[in-house]
Amino acid sequence: MSPMTRLRNDLITESPTDLVKLYYFQRASDGGLIVSEGSAPSAGGRGYVRAPGVWTDEHIEGWKKVTEAVHSKGGYIFCQLMHAGRVSHSSLLPEEKLPVAPSALKPAGDVHIAGGKKVPYEVPRALETDEIPVIVQEFVTAARRAFAGGFDGVEIHAGNGYLPQQFLAKETNLRTDQYGGSVENRARFLLEVTDAIAAAIGSNRLGIKLQQGVTFSGLIEPEDDCLAQLAYLGPELEKRKLAYVCLSSLNYTPYYQYVGLSEPNFKTDVWRFFRTVYKGSLMINGGLSPEKAEEYVADGTADSVSFGVPFIANANLPELLAAGYSSEQLNPGGWQASVWYGKATGGPDEKGFTDWPLVRP
Ligand SMILES: Cc1cc2nc3c(=O)[nH]c(=O)nc-3n(C[C@H](O)[C@H](O)[C@H](O)COP(=O)(O)O)c2cc1C
Repeated sequence: MSPMTRLRNDLITESPTDLVKLYYFQRASDGGLIVSEGSAPSAGGRGYVRAPGVWTDEHIEGWKKVTEAVHSKGGYIFCQLMHAGRVSHSSLLPEEKLPVAPSALKPAGDVHIAGGKKVPYEVPRALETDEIPVIVQEFVTAARRAFAGGFDGVEIHAGNGYLPQQFLAKETNLRTDQYGGSVENRARFLLEVTDAIAAAIGSNRLGIKLQQGVTFSGLIEPEDDCLAQLAYLGPELEKRKLAYVCLSSLNYTPYYQYVGLSEPNFKTDVWRFFRTVYKGSLMINGGLSPEKAEEYVADGTADSVSFGVPFIANANLPELLAAGYSSEQLNPGGWQASVWYGKATGGPDEKGFTDWPLVRP
């Protein structure tokens, strides 16, 4: 199960509640891997009201209930570490300081703040070079805390326009120090976070989600630069022997439609391309039907496949896939974006979250 922000955590503490525990329990399966919704590694990495964190004791107590519930069904769960960087707002951050980013470039559009209000993004503050190791350390502390909360591993969210991708993409990174300019320099932050977490918890407990070419939070990347990033990252990540690299793509319907594109964003099949530069464990994701997923596994492109939206309304998706259910036989309810997120002001959180009737094989 691919990470999905659902914004149903406690209104005050932003810790997983008993209802959040039920949601993950419903979706856990024997031997299946769930990646949690994006969770802020530190108070400064917060981006959304009611998204969880992994930096307070209360967060960890909340997560313990979730991880125990998943393990009770024989499942595994990784914690996705999501540092929002510029995709945040000062009102969500400690001392109401500006969000931080590689460069002082404002994302396009509006941000949701407390009370469900929408306001324009702000111009973030560019990080000083000597502040970057501090952020790397925040990721490490968060990874250790996630472990203490019973997670089987962590995933670095390096997609959807959040902090690591803000470094990777040349549109959001105009730095002139060792973290900007060439593809190698732009990848430095992600590789430093990777190495530091791997040293703390083991590379076999660490996954990375890449999403080159996303059109999310105002980031639009050209295909040639995305392929150059992947060509560099492939061998670098292969050397590090991670649990997996998840490459999420917009090339398949209906994912590209719900991010507002009318056609695939790339000419290249990024999964097949990435396979030529990376021989390690590869998970693919993005608009995959069970049928397409089978094709990519059968031809050796992917070692594993993750599903997001199909899981929203099909808690027993693994069981249905094992029974040979096709896309048409699944409950399509997860496609209604109105059920995706909880309200900044609170409940009813069950609706569209834990109340889907099961399709039975
Ligand atoms: C409601 C919703 C919330 C999401 N939140 C996250 C998130 O927190 N972290 C992340 O990496 N991706 C997030 N995604 C993207 C999914 O993990 C996945 O990459 C995307 O939906 C494509 O896969 P799919 O077509 O199987 O859903 C989210 C998607 C949806 C629909």
